Amino acid sequence: MPYTTNPIIHTSNIVKSFNIGSENEIEILHGIDLDIYKGEFVSIVGASGSGKSTLMNIIGILDKPTSGTYILDDRDVSEARDKELSAIRNQKIGFVFQTYNLISRTTALANVELPMMYAHINKKKRRERAEMLLEMVGMSDRMDYTPDKLSGGQTQRVAIARALANSPSIILADEPTGALDSVTGHLIMDLFHKLNEENGITIVLITHSKELAEETSKIFTLKDGNIISSRMGRGGSNASTQTTQENNEAQEIKLNKESSQEINLDEESSQEINLDEESSQGITLDKGSLQENNTSSGLKGENYVY
Ligand SMILES: Nc1ncnc2c1ncn2[C@@H]1O[C@H](COP(=O)(O)OP(=O)(O)OP(=O)(O)O)[C@@H](O)[C@H]1O
Ligand SMILES: [Mg+2]
Repeated sequence: MPYTTNPIIHTSNIVKSFNIGSENEIEILHGIDLDIYKGEFVSIVGASGSGKSTLMNIIGILDKPTSGTYILDDRDVSEARDKELSAIRNQKIGFVFQTYNLISRTTALANVELPMMYAHINKKKRRERAEMLLEMVGMSDRMDYTPDKLSGGQTQRVAIARALANSPSIILADEPTGALDSVTGHLIMDLFHKLNEENGITIVLITHSKELAEETSKIFTLKDGNIISSRMGRGGSNASTQTTQENNEAQEIKLNKESSQEINLDEESSQEINLDEESSQGITLDKGSLQENNTSSGLKGENYVY
């Protein structure tokens, strides 16, 4: 028996409709049952419009299902309140997108620090951790660069460092290599493999690349809002090795327990954040700029995507 624990992601009969109650009502996901186990590296493939991002938004609690159950790390998030969902998301999930989603006016270092600010981690700790993460993704010599001065692959590495800021147990990556050439895409995949194998991070990758999907341990195929197949790929670490991974946990990516306990994103503090004194270069970030590329609209409150 490969699996000894509950899946970290469990969805049961998830349905998602848009424009509910209007003449344009449309059902996009038709009852998704999905189990992903801790330490797995899985991919979701399917034609454009098949519902991959819609599903990813639900898994990432950026959007709510119309019906069905979603259990994340043994917690029924279908029932949780929006504020609580934001805290769970910030603590457990790191996002990586095709379009990077970095704040354009600020440095790589400040971008990586940002999720830690929301988690109320003090300045010294977040600076140290951001530097460590940027070093880990091979970007220590570009920490002071703004995204417009970085190549696509470099920008994506910064985005991955930012996704790791609050030590997530899960990374959700929606077409993370879609804007990159194939060599650079493979370098980003290598980074994901390293995070999966060495740090036990569960990774869910959406990709159009068959080749990259084959590198993962399990491939789910979505067609017209249904999962039509799930099969093993060649790669990824396996959930059965999770005990070893847990023991090895956080060699490089160390969860700062004290500070992450404190995650408490209240409405006022997240409306406007002043990146303070020295760290800030005087930048004020508002809610809109943080949501630059987040098209999801299902949740109220703090919908920040890292
Ligand atoms: N907010 C929305 N309102 C109405 N329809 C939507 C909304 N969001 C997505 N859809 C529809 O849901 C379907 C699935 O979209 P989704 O973005 O999940 O596809 P995808 O598989 O990620 O495609 P791609 O590979 O092109 O990114 C599409 O037909 C899209 O038009
Ligand atoms: Mg998509």
